[in-house]
Amino acid sequence: MATFLPTFLDELRERLTLSDIVGKRIRLLRAGREFKGCCPFHKEKTPSFYVNDDKKFFHCFGCGAHGDVIGFTMRHDGLSFPEAVESLAAQAGLAVPQDTPMERERFDKEKSLHHLLERATVFFEEQLRTPAGREARAYLLGRGLQDKAQRRFRLGYAPSDAQALIRQLQGEGFGLPDMLAVGLIKKAEDRPDHYSFFRNRVMFPVANRRGQTVAFGARIMGEGEPKYLNSPDHALFHKGQLLYGLSRARAALAQGQPLIVVEGYMDVIALVEAGYIGAVAPLGTALTEDQLALLWKMLPPLESREPTRDYSPILCFDGDNAGLRAAMRGADRALPLLTAAQTARIAYLPTGEDPDSLLRSAGRSAMQAVLDQAKPMVEVIWDMALTGRRLQTPEDRAVAARALRQKVAVIRDETLKTLYQDAIEKKLAALFQWEPKGAPNMHKRGEKQRKTGAFPTRFVPSTPLPHRLQPTGSLKLREKVLLAIMVNHPALFHEFGDELAHIGFISPPMEALRQQIVTLFSQDSQEPLDAAALYRHLSLGDAAGGAQKGLADVLSEATFMHAGFARPDRPIEQARQGWKSIWNKYLQEQLQIDLQAAGRLWHEDPSDANLARLMSLREQMETLVRESDEQMTYDSNQDSLL
Ligand code: UTP
Ligand code: MN
Repeated sequence: MATFLPTFLDELRERLTLSDIVGKRIRLLRAGREFKGCCPFHKEKTPSFYVNDDKKFFHCFGCGAHGDVIGFTMRHDGLSFPEAVESLAAQAGLAVPQDTPMERERFDKEKSLHHLLERATVFFEEQLRTPAGREARAYLLGRGLQDKAQRRFRLGYAPSDAQALIRQLQGEGFGLPDMLAVGLIKKAEDRPDHYSFFRNRVMFPVANRRGQTVAFGARIMGEGEPKYLNSPDHALFHKGQLLYGLSRARAALAQGQPLIVVEGYMDVIALVEAGYIGAVAPLGTALTEDQLALLWKMLPPLESREPTRDYSPILCFDGDNAGLRAAMRGADRALPLLTAAQTARIAYLPTGEDPDSLLRSAGRSAMQAVLDQAKPMVEVIWDMALTGRRLQTPEDRAVAARALRQKVAVIRDETLKTLYQDAIEKKLAALFQWEPKGAPNMHKRGEKQRKTGAFPTRFVPSTPLPHRLQPTGSLKLREKVLLAIMVNHPALFHEFGDELAHIGFISPPMEALRQQIVTLFSQDSQEPLDAAALYRHLSLGDAAGGAQKGLADVLSEATFMHAGFARPDRPIEQARQGWKSIWNKYLQEQLQIDLQAAGRLWHEDPSDANLARLMSLREQMETLVRESDEQMTYDSNQDSLL
């Protein structure tokens, strides 16, 4: 008779949802956290047959029938044990591994590695409570983790003694090759001996979905590099296919808690301590498709979802540029994979905060407010594609619409893609007051009067930027470069004149020059202003005034040395890109200040209005950061930037 490896049977039970399998055979109704129906194993009129997905078993209070998904399939479908396993494996899309001696050996090997990792976890836990672990304990206390929390997350301490772990594990009968295999120790390069990989660090055991330790994250106490050391991948651990906190998070949805993806170990711990047991984190890398799949697999099937509840995981990354990029990357990764049953939301944290710091400084209600504001994907796409774009001219709008449509186009699920397209076209139509693309009933041209002048335009700072920034050398240099670009390439005034008109420069001669240039361009002149004409006006004309000295300064080698793209002989496209990237930097600096102020304000008064302002600033920042990322490829082929 065929036998199956216990790990495979576990995997099978894991992959299949019992209520799914049962629900295909008999009619089930939701009853709280369980399902009930009329027992297929005895005759009855009122349901006494219960299915519990968390516990993974069924039970009939009428006839006492009881079992798991395999037992149910055997009994209901009249199959033998191996037949039932084969049938279920096919439904789960799993290949049944052969129980060969080789497979058996692999299984035994894995079992002993699991045992080794468990003993190492215990060793680190014990070390935390020795005198050597005092500093680590103090460190954890300082981060708000009391003894109870330390035990709950099985936190530990790796002593400085590079041999301590080896001595302990060898004493328990484990061999060096196994310790090497799971990355607990390294081989010394110049000597024949081995040493502990983790030394004098606080240890965070990483558990697999079944709660067994498979790896460690190890934090330095205080400042230093690297902040975290992580176990390398090995037979039991693939960092892109696991999430920190996964085993606990699996109970979250059944308890009415959302799945929340955060960046760090400490964030997961702080959230779980605050009651958000659905918190998970990737393991030192960007969120992968496999990790998204892990999250989506935890969701109940569409049919058994409560209609009013949003089950989608919330991506909640740190409130800094790196976090924002991580969130955007996560969204981009999810986009092609979206279906009705699997989507995501994005929550934005205030600048400078991660979930851990927010919970500690502002409490659970602040965190809840952030989660409540999580945006659905359709809005995330909208923001990603549009925020901060110029939307003034028809060309601007065409470009914006195209960016948006390109985002939607990557959705693979055809039905969902159509619905997204629909939603996006309607939103665009409302924004630009044009006809939705592909609208069935096109009005005749001109039949409908369109409003003009009310189009949303690009974000323009309310206060001239530099006055709110510290005057620095590089800021003054930037002012010169912007002016040099405009003097050498006056054709760019069409595009950037508004921007030049809206800022104020800190350096008085540069400010004088800026005003003159803006004035010259705004005058109705017979003579087209090319570079030569502009230069003539500025240096000779009535308008010149005190500008001459400034002009020489602007067009000096000292300026071009730092920004070759502003030289007169460079192609205009280079000058254009140079302008855009400097301007982007200005806006980022400005926004950063606004963001910090808004963050503080919101901490003091966590009202919806303050949060809304914060979120809107974040979105603007998001777009700027993305734009500057896009420019970077270009810039890296160019001159040094400021
Ligand atoms: P963060 O730098 O945001 O740290 O890294 P954190 O989680 O807020 O940690 P604390 O609060 O300073 O202790 C986020 C995650 O990135 C990975 C870790 O998984 C960390 O939790 N990371 C970070 C590394 O793997 N190595 C590092 O050197 C830094
Ligand atoms: Mn942190």
